[in-house]
Amino acid sequence: MNIYTVQNYEALCTKSADLISELIQSKPNCNLGLATGSTPLGIYEELVKRYKNGSLDFSKAKSFNLDEYWGLSQEHPCSYSYYMRQNLFDHINMPEPQRNIPSGTASSAQSECFLYDQKISEAGHLDLLILGIGRNGHIGFNEPAQAFNMETHLVELDTVTRQDNARYFKTYEKIPSHAITMGIQSIMNAKQILLIASGSGKTEALSKMRNGQIDPSLPASILQLHENVTVIQDVDAAGLSI
Ligand code: PGA
Repeated sequence: MNIYTVQNYEALCTKSADLISELIQSKPNCNLGLATGSTPLGIYEELVKRYKNGSLDFSKAKSFNLDEYWGLSQEHPCSYSYYMRQNLFDHINMPEPQRNIPSGTASSAQSECFLYDQKISEAGHLDLLILGIGRNGHIGFNEPAQAFNMETHLVELDTVTRQDNARYFKTYEKIPSHAITMGIQSIMNAKQILLIASGSGKTEALSKMRNGQIDPSLPASILQLHENVTVIQDVDAAGLSI
């Protein structure tokens, strides 16, 4: 793993946006794997800025999001579909048919998951996948489990995840209990992974990811087996802040 420790969140966003921009400029028809949550927000803001100043063109790129809450429609303000439109898609020129997010309201979760993996592999796999990391070591919504779940699947969200995401919902009860998440296989098939982490809440998970056993109880540990992972963390996440 290539690990970059930067001074603060702003530097994390600039460095991450640099890496993503390099790919889009060198391969305009690239497949981007996108994450939601609070960490990517500044990165998306930076990408929008670069699109608006003419240095980035998303017209040929495709995107595949990591996950979506099960039961939330695209119009629900807490859905990741809504998040992506608000924070990125409404401000760039990636055509709608090129953007992919699992549907949280498909009639069959099982076929939605199967088709999602198929779409990713038919597109030729992801060129670059942005990953956050949960305090419990989850990637996407691959939660701590007895075994790595290779396929895209419907998952019951972990208590830690629901607590962490409670900030987006009016009450704890309103947080969906399940989500569809890209499975470990599509994640590991990405040619390059950019894992971003900010804040001291991530220090323990990051350390276990890099130095612990490869174990499904800490899903991010599987990334030890990937040959092209770049971690961009701020000093707080690295555990270096005073
Ligand atoms: P965060 O979420 O960016 O909101 O910290 C990361 C994650 O849970 O994957």
